[in-house]
Amino acid sequence: MFSKDTVVGVIGSGAMGSGIAQVAAMAGHKVIIYDSNEAAIEKSKSNLNNLLKKLLEKQKLTEQAATEISQKLYFSKSFNSFSECGIIIEAIVENLEVKQKVFSEAEKIVSENCILATNTSSLSIASVASSCKKNSRVLGIHFFNPAHIMPLVEIIPSLSTDASIVTETKKLIDSWGKLTVIAKDTPGFIVNRIARPYYGEAIRIYEEGFADFQTIDWAMKEIGGFKMGPFELMDFIGNDVNYKVTETVWEQFFYDTRYKPSLTQKRLFESGRFGKKSGRGYYDYSEEAVNPEPQKDKELGEKIFLRILSMLINEAVDAFYLNVASKEDIDLAMTKGVNYPKGLLKWCDQIGIDKIYNQLKNLQDEYGEDRYRPSVLMKRMESKGEKFFT
Ligand code: NAI
Repeated sequence: MFSKDTVVGVIGSGAMGSGIAQVAAMAGHKVIIYDSNEAAIEKSKSNLNNLLKKLLEKQKLTEQAATEISQKLYFSKSFNSFSECGIIIEAIVENLEVKQKVFSEAEKIVSENCILATNTSSLSIASVASSCKKNSRVLGIHFFNPAHIMPLVEIIPSLSTDASIVTETKKLIDSWGKLTVIAKDTPGFIVNRIARPYYGEAIRIYEEGFADFQTIDWAMKEIGGFKMGPFELMDFIGNDVNYKVTETVWEQFFYDTRYKPSLTQKRLFESGRFGKKSGRGYYDYSEEAVNPEPQKDKELGEKIFLRILSMLINEAVDAFYLNVASKEDIDLAMTKGVNYPKGLLKWCDQIGIDKIYNQLKNLQDEYGEDRYRPSVLMKRMESKGEKFFT
């Protein structure tokens, strides 16, 4: 279905669209990038040129390769140029009505066999595809930010996507040097669903006064081996973006309390304390700022780590139980999509499912909240002493 001659269309030349275009061009495809905003196109052009220059400077590309890549990138102010595309990846604003309109417009122009993909992080693929006449050719291809660096891509078929399209698209994205996982069309797919407690449980611990945020960050890095603590990471992602994802996942799960957003994060968002980009989030990023030191108490750190990790493992187990993805893909997604030090299911095997289960049961008994309910699969496996991997 696809070859190096397949022309790739990208709709939206923002952060994600530009990154995806670069990946496709570097893999040898002609790429047509369209954006409704002329300034966005100019910005994308100059960002891509700068990126190629940097790669050249670092000797990661030869001069000839850099020229060839830039010659493969075509910027267009018109939708009509998509008629020659074999696949189109949409990366425009995260708004269902706007995406649906763009998909139904694109379908009028593209060939009968052109695949239509969305890079949405929070909308259902079924809802985007519903605007197309031939919805069997629509699927999700979810890159991570920055798309040219992060190795993981989630491939998400909707209920209507043709199985052969999923297989061929996976092969295509693999050939771009990415690691692909297949995810069910459920809120947050794999990574954005399973990662929720990394933020939510950390905020809960902070709200309770059990530990301050710098100590929680210290515990997760020092004891857990995570590259960034939850608060540092939320400040990096942006508390506006992270809050929105949490709220959307919660709403889409019909308000399951396990995904309930926190008032702490909402207030930060409302106060414009978005994090690094606004100069202030949990931490102060101004030049003269002196941020508080963590309380380096190993016993406290172990408790924080086990509580957050147990919640993460519970999400991973439940996602596996509900067939969101295979256990291999779940572990790959968390290590390659958000750089977790280990796959969560493997981690569960190593620590012992009984220890994780008991931690969750104790929390559930103490708080009386559904938030801490262990996945039924964890309960069953614990009673039989089973492991995920042999
Ligand atoms: P962005 O705001 O950087 O870029 C969006 C671009 O779409 C803008 O240049 C805008 O002019 C253009 N656009 C808006 N409406 C359009 C239309 N009707 N037709 C053509 N172009 C239009 O956004 P970003 O961050 O690149 O996100 C794009 C998509 O990727 C969203 O669906 C987002 O949820 C998803 N995504 C974002 C990630 C991130 O970390 N930023 C990660 C993974 C997915």
